[in-house]
Amino acid sequence: MAIEILPTTARPTERTRISGLRCRGCGRAEPIGLSYVCAACFGPLEVEYDYAAAGRTLTRASIAERAPGMWRYFELLPVEAPPARGLPVGSTPLLAADRLAPALGLERLWIKDDTRNPSLSFKDRAVAVAAARAVGFGVEALACASTGNLAGATAAAAAALGLPAYVFIPADLEPAKVDHALAYGATVVPIEGTYDDVNRLCLELADETGWGFVNVNLRPFYAEGSKTLAFEIAESLGWRSPDVVVAPVASGAMFTRIARGFDELAEVGLIERRPIRFVGGQAAGCAPVATAWAAGTDVIEPVRNPDTIVRSLAIGNPADGRYCVALADASGGSIEAIDDLATAAAIRDVARLEGIYPETAGGVTLAAAAAARRRGVIRAGDEVVALLTGNGLKTPDARTLGAGNPVAAAGRPGLAPAIGPSLAAFERWMGGAA
Ligand SMILES: Cc1ncc(COP(=O)(O)O)c(C=O)c1O
Ligand SMILES: [Zn+2]
Repeated sequence: MAIEILPTTARPTERTRISGLRCRGCGRAEPIGLSYVCAACFGPLEVEYDYAAAGRTLTRASIAERAPGMWRYFELLPVEAPPARGLPVGSTPLLAADRLAPALGLERLWIKDDTRNPSLSFKDRAVAVAAARAVGFGVEALACASTGNLAGATAAAAAALGLPAYVFIPADLEPAKVDHALAYGATVVPIEGTYDDVNRLCLELADETGWGFVNVNLRPFYAEGSKTLAFEIAESLGWRSPDVVVAPVASGAMFTRIARGFDELAEVGLIERRPIRFVGGQAAGCAPVATAWAAGTDVIEPVRNPDTIVRSLAIGNPADGRYCVALADASGGSIEAIDDLATAAAIRDVARLEGIYPETAGGVTLAAAAAARRRGVIRAGDEVVALLTGNGLKTPDARTLGAGNPVAAAGRPGLAPAIGPSLAAFERWMGGAA
């Protein structure tokens, strides 16, 4: 396998897959580095590739020979080569959800099960790319501003690389997510405020500390990691795209980069270019993007006080919000706002019918698929891929919202009362429960 080596600071004269960074607002070019906003217009910076160079070694045949995991597609990621160290991320299954599909009004539904990455969410993908770059930049620590899942992903990646981790979270985050980050040895700093307050602080800290904040000063690289979801979906489908992709939206980084991922696969000739409708899901209690989409504007009105059980998506002022609206509109998709009871019901349904247990963002996604079908954005016979991006073990209280835990009885699943360790006791209970 031929590997092109990228210098740490790419010089424009060098023939490399990675051309550098470019501002999404004004198009100004910047060299690869720890920079994330355009010096001219403050627009977000994105990694740029030479697709002809990438496509020379990235072929269906070369990919098939490579080990499982997200680095199978490294030519379309901003790294020189697959990193020597790090957690095994990606190559998660695409599962036919035949039992759930009719419950959502769908006929052909696939679930991309990203609940089973190393730290139990898709954030491992984004962090893997940011961390690989951070090592090259020689940062002293990995850090992040997190709505929960990024905390665990950053802490786990730092542990695997032997770096300290500093994780900043809203103080009222789910305890399971705080514990998860602590388990990996991170320094966890709860902030009295919303995620947007946490993010604002981290913007200042990134300048002050020189730490690698995966979603701040490493953001152009971090965002690229989510493209591997598209790469894996296309490969699992036999190198083609589905009719509709349904995904959750918080900052909007993942939603927009999945589209970019499919686009790049077509660019390098790995799939045929076909239209894909992109449907996003947000929690109704923090739905700045869905609200803008419904109003027909790309001006995002920030939500000051999110009020939802869906903590992982509770970003009131999303960085990529207007790009999400543009993507939904241009592709013929939608951005759906889902109330918490529908989210909880969807979590219960997919767990009960498919044996997959997602966190709150997954409930939002599945309920958004049903909403888009009712709206007519998803049509009869469409092939739909829904992304379950985090694991339900991190949000244990969400599942029971509006339903409680059912008490078991004969022929009815649920929690039975504690009984003595004897056959007689079990038979007595079964008799009484019948
Ligand atoms: C489980 C889960 N899914 C989806 C998202 C959305 O990510 P993004 O900020 O890229 O929109 C998040 C963000 O934290 C998340 O935790
Ligand atoms: Zn610019």
